[in-house]
Amino acid sequence: MSASSPRVAVIVVAAGSGTRLGAGMPKAFVSVGGRTLLEHAVHAVSGMRSDAQLIAVVPAGATDEVRRLLAALAPEAVVVAGGASRQASVEAGLAALHEAVEVVLVHDAARAFTPSGQFDAVVAAIDAAGEGVVPGLPVSDTIKRTDADALVTGTVDRSELVAVQTPQGFPRDILLQAYRAATEEATDDAALVAAIGHPVRIVAGDPLAFKVTTPADLARAEQLFGSAPVVPRIGLGTDTHAFGGDGELWLAGLHWPDEPALAGHSDGDAVAHAIVDALLSAAGLGDIGSVFGTDDPRFAGARGEVFLEATRERLAAAGLRVGNVSVQLIGNRPRFARRREEAERVLGDILGAPVSISATTTDGLGFTGRGEGVTAIATALLVPVT
Ligand code: CTP
Ligand code: MG
Repeated sequence: MSASSPRVAVIVVAAGSGTRLGAGMPKAFVSVGGRTLLEHAVHAVSGMRSDAQLIAVVPAGATDEVRRLLAALAPEAVVVAGGASRQASVEAGLAALHEAVEVVLVHDAARAFTPSGQFDAVVAAIDAAGEGVVPGLPVSDTIKRTDADALVTGTVDRSELVAVQTPQGFPRDILLQAYRAATEEATDDAALVAAIGHPVRIVAGDPLAFKVTTPADLARAEQLFGSAPVVPRIGLGTDTHAFGGDGELWLAGLHWPDEPALAGHSDGDAVAHAIVDALLSAAGLGDIGSVFGTDDPRFAGARGEVFLEATRERLAAAGLRVGNVSVQLIGNRPRFARRREEAERVLGDILGAPVSISATTTDGLGFTGRGEGVTAIATALLVPVT
């Protein structure tokens, strides 16, 4: 948000070429979810609680294009051409500061998904401490020191390390002084401020403030903020079989030697069939009859796992995998509890996902209560393969 006499300014540096991303265009113009990284970053700045002057530093030659790009989102943004290094680009931004500004935040457009609240938190911390503030996260990898031959020479004490992000914020005078005094290139602003002896304090960063540097970072951004959001899909299936089949019972993927068999064209495994219907329904791929053909001779007497495995393959082909499955078996027999965990394991292994099975009776009511057959009801959750 812009104001006529802003106390805070945010310089968004977006003039880099994005060599490591290799998108064939400056990184700030790469789109995620239909918006450029620069627009995402500017959107976050506009969401700040405090009114701030917004200065966008962009590749030389792109200033007019960026003014058009930001016309609706941030009409009062100041757009200036950057330099050959990040430091030179920040300097170009500093030259455009409004005279009323007392606090300056410098932000990488490449950290496009930094929440607005992070900017507010940095401003609040500068106001409280009167000194430079940098968001940072603890380092989770173990860090080694190595020599020129890639030999490990030591382990750095991780507890002393912080991975810093942006926006980095400073009282205006201190930041200007630091840039005037700079003799070497630094990769962040805090280094220059520290070099002139001013304290810089770390505040909690945000994992969403990750920097889009490599294609893998862009893929992550697409996953989190892309136009095809990762939505799970839910499905429901039921199946009923009557007792009276030949041989012995197969249910929930298990053989039950002393129990009466269920009747059916296949093995009558109502639990497996209900799961197949739930999975196919969640995927929008039809149902067990339409997909496998209930009277197809290839499936005569087929085990439930044959259908489950074939279903899993179809899901994979559709870019889906099973998140979890929950089934309820309704019937008097078999006494399910003693083999519940075994059944959950067998079916879970086939589907590559957790399967939970509960069993209940109907208090003597209905066909299940009379012991004529069993019913199974399944729900399944599918998630896109990423
Ligand atoms: N930046 C800039 N001017 C430069 C170099 C970098 O404004 N001359 C900005 C980038 O646009 C980015 C931020 O500084 O928002 C952090 O830099 P980095 O992630 O290194 O981006 P690039 O320099 O564009 O990428 P690369 O180093 O892979 O070329
Ligand atoms: Mg760079």
